[in-house]
Amino acid sequence: MYQLGLIGYPIKHSFSPWIHTHFLEKTGISGTYKLLEIQPDSNFETEMKKLKTEGLNGFNITVPYKQAIIPYLDELDSEAERIGAVNTVKYSDGKWIGYNTDGIGYVRSLKSKYPKLFINKSNKILILGAGGAARGIYDALVNEGFKYVDIANRTLESAEKIAQLKLKYTKTNTMTLQEAEQVVSHYDAIIQTTSVGMAPRPNEVIINLRGLQPHTIVSDIVYQPIETQFLTEARYLGASIHLGHTMLLYQAQYAFEIWTEMKAPIDQLDDELQNKLMEGR
Ligand code: ATR
Repeated sequence: MYQLGLIGYPIKHSFSPWIHTHFLEKTGISGTYKLLEIQPDSNFETEMKKLKTEGLNGFNITVPYKQAIIPYLDELDSEAERIGAVNTVKYSDGKWIGYNTDGIGYVRSLKSKYPKLFINKSNKILILGAGGAARGIYDALVNEGFKYVDIANRTLESAEKIAQLKLKYTKTNTMTLQEAEQVVSHYDAIIQTTSVGMAPRPNEVIINLRGLQPHTIVSDIVYQPIETQFLTEARYLGASIHLGHTMLLYQAQYAFEIWTEMKAPIDQLDDELQNKLMEGR
């Protein structure tokens, strides 16, 4: 019997219980996944002490606690350590071990839709944004062995900080968003990692894609709306698009795998989640 859950605030509308309950059913594992909301004005240390008595086998952490949890963990997986944020904790041999499944989850989602992009590691990738999500995605792409992963951000210094994570095999140029607009035609994949374009401001786009090559894959991690204006513009320009809700499914799949050592199938969950998002839940 697996006792799983999610801590964060606000989490009432999270899709995680729905996704993990489905994974439990599909893998035939008995268990529960509950919401453990922690109010921002509460004492986090006290809440962590309480959480340690709950007997959880594992849990997810979302905003605003992905960094705050770190001092309460016994061990950190190498990726979580590099990213400096944790979204998954496993209880193992009396220890709390922290992981980050966002970047690898994102890369799995992209690979499942566009496996050909991953065949040639000289394909050029541009990440737009330099927040926590960008950091995880950059780290996972570099670990996949991509040789050229550039980062564009409104604030150049944040892009430069992420570029310091790179391994020796990856070349990374950093640039402003204005500079990125001039070079969109150079890339095989462009990944939008900021909240720009998210409801309630669905008309905003982070950069103009004029000049985009039709062979380029354009991806957006925003999933409300399900297809952002940025992706619609990319589609009009003939590009292939990658929808943001898939990252949600694959980061959950990887977390579930860490807890249970079982790879749960995504199959029809993808369509069901799209329907849920279109219905406004
Ligand atoms: P997350 O952890 O979800 O990625 P974050 O760490 O707050 O969120 O990062 C937000 C990212 O979105 C940053 O890259 C931010 O750019 P700055 O570093 O310049 O702040 C980017 N961002 C947010 N609003 C933006 C906007 N209106 N235009 C361009 N970039 C924006």
